[in-house]
Amino acid sequence: MALANPVARHYGSGGIAERVLAALRETKGPDAALTPENLAPFDHFHGRGVVATEELAASLNPRPGERLLDIGSGIGGPARWFAAKFGVHVTGVDLTPEFCAAAEALNATTGLSDCVTIIEGSALALPVPDAAFDAAYSQNVIMNIADKQLFYREAFRPLRPGGRLALSNLCAGPAGEPYFPVPWATTRDTSFLATPEEMRADLVAAGFEILSFRDTTEAIREAQRRSGERFAKGDMPRIAVDIIMGERSREMQINSGRSIEDGRGIAIEALVRKPG
Ligand SMILES: C[S@@+](CC[C@H](N)C(=O)[O-])C[C@H]1O[C@@H](n2cnc3c(N)ncnc32)[C@H](O)[C@@H]1O
Repeated sequence: MALANPVARHYGSGGIAERVLAALRETKGPDAALTPENLAPFDHFHGRGVVATEELAASLNPRPGERLLDIGSGIGGPARWFAAKFGVHVTGVDLTPEFCAAAEALNATTGLSDCVTIIEGSALALPVPDAAFDAAYSQNVIMNIADKQLFYREAFRPLRPGGRLALSNLCAGPAGEPYFPVPWATTRDTSFLATPEEMRADLVAAGFEILSFRDTTEAIREAQRRSGERFAKGDMPRIAVDIIMGERSREMQINSGRSIEDGRGIAIEALVRKPG
């Protein structure tokens, strides 16, 4: 049997959709409506959760009927949220088979299978045609990518001329590598942080025009401080990272918070455009 990709091995586990639905019922009651909004605390797997997705959406400004590509779509929370909120069709591509299975199950549960298509595949060889999308986004995926130039070239290819790409990424900080394990990697073997300057240069080399490039580290720090206070009081609500990563999530979140606090990570949100 072929060995799973080490990134997929870090993320994957069985029963994710069931755990997400159980968390929804525990938190909002047995009859909670199965909507992307109600599921959002449990299926947006990145720092600051749905708040970060809302900010990304505000910069991407999707219009009804547009075709969006989600690169590294995880268990599909952001894709369902975009489809329901903006009336767009989202194609999500992700490497981790268990995440794709959970995304498909949650698409069906929320009645969104017609608006969200999930394809198991690599961001480095996107299984989608050229120039097929009006816009694309990728949240907290680039940290797992060693060949960043190839990632940006592949993100460029399926956009139509004038198409926008919104990115959330954690870049390398001046104080050295993160403390492991972190939510995106168990060890340094699958964590690849570029500096903000390298990210900018790679985007330009791939052909993108940069429309905005923001350092959002302080917002992440603030959110992590609030989580740390809740951890200390013992009343941390369960969020996507806890449900998806299980027992390892507490140590991962503490390490992620310390890494950002100590200057070992810089959060960047960028909006770029394919000329044309
Ligand atoms: C931290 S999760 C973020 C998931 C999702 N973007 C979200 O915000 O909810 C990182 C995701 O990137 C995916 N990923 C990492 N490397 C990838 C690659 N080379 N191709 C496709 N997906 C990848 C992982 O499988 C995982 O789902």
